[in-house]
Amino acid sequence: WPVPKTALLSTKGRHRDHMGNEIDEQPLVAQRVVDALAPAITDGLLWRGLGLPPLDEIDRVAIIGCGTSLHAGRAIAGVFSRVGGLPTRALVASEAAHEVWEPRTLVIAISQSGETADVLRALQGLPAEHGTVLALTNNPSSSLARRADAVIDCLAGPEIGVAATKTFVAQVLTGVCVALSGLTVSHRADATLLDADVRALTATPEALSTARDTWRGPAATLAAEFARASGFLFLGRGAGLVYAAEGALKLKELSYRWAEHQPAGELKHGPLALVDAGTPVFIVDDGDPRLEVDIAEVTARGGRVIRLGERILRVGGLPLHLPRTGPSWGPLETVVPLQMFARELALRLHRDVDKPRNLAKSVTVS
Ligand code: G6P
Repeated sequence: WPVPKTALLSTKGRHRDHMGNEIDEQPLVAQRVVDALAPAITDGLLWRGLGLPPLDEIDRVAIIGCGTSLHAGRAIAGVFSRVGGLPTRALVASEAAHEVWEPRTLVIAISQSGETADVLRALQGLPAEHGTVLALTNNPSSSLARRADAVIDCLAGPEIGVAATKTFVAQVLTGVCVALSGLTVSHRADATLLDADVRALTATPEALSTARDTWRGPAATLAAEFARASGFLFLGRGAGLVYAAEGALKLKELSYRWAEHQPAGELKHGPLALVDAGTPVFIVDDGDPRLEVDIAEVTARGGRVIRLGERILRVGGLPLHLPRTGPSWGPLETVVPLQMFARELALRLHRDVDKPRNLAKSVTVS
């Protein structure tokens, strides 16, 4: 599959920092990925073009990565398992040394830099007969790309900010296209889910752009409200959980404040003790009705709920929560307000949002 060269360069735009511009670029990046890869999903051309084996020769998928790339892997894993019923796990690369690798495993290694030592080291531990390695990277000439059997460029263009933003969106969408294409080739996809996912994919650039434009003001207002908060909770269920995790990671990286993500169902098993009057609790809503109970638990303790991803219809002034049947990779657009909030809070606290303390863009030690 002839992947186009990226044309977009990350330049200073409306913001003084690179991160703000990279957040803003996300709808454009998403459109580039969708234009390049979506047409090659349903005929399986994308999967075959990568030289990957048909999925009936594969029993399971293991996705490895670190930080934000690991979260992208968790979102992509949802496509293989929900649409194709294929056992899929996302593994922390630095812990993968303890894995028991089984044959007929497709390993997808995700790294925007392609130089992360933990990922390269995890691949060193793979036995020779384990199966195929696909690299998903923003640097197709990286060490990871050279090590892999197949490589796909996530087409994000240069990302300067240390905290990953547009590469996350690009990785998720690229991986989703590859997964859907593979499931199509091997006739493993649930036809209804596949169809819904392909339609959701083409609607994603617009959803990201709406999220960006809607949250620009509110993200700054929330940052002012929570400037003194010492800790933050991020909750989700199902496919929403990974975006809660990414929101917590962005907040830690940028603001240096404590942020924890949890499956919302775990709240009652411990984290609820953290909730007090005014505690900020971000909820990523994937449409699971049980979230209403989780939200009630938080508000009953005075927690301040900020809910993302919900679909509300107002009937006679009253909010009616609509069931959300989102794509198998979850409500990706919710990451945009979470990134914006983390950046706004960090700017308010006079942090360097492009170069957070103690962090590096490419971590070449394991
Ligand atoms: C560092 C960065 C993170 C990034 C992670 C993985 O820790 O600070 O933002 O997600 O590396 O980087 P990679 O290049 O492998 O995606």
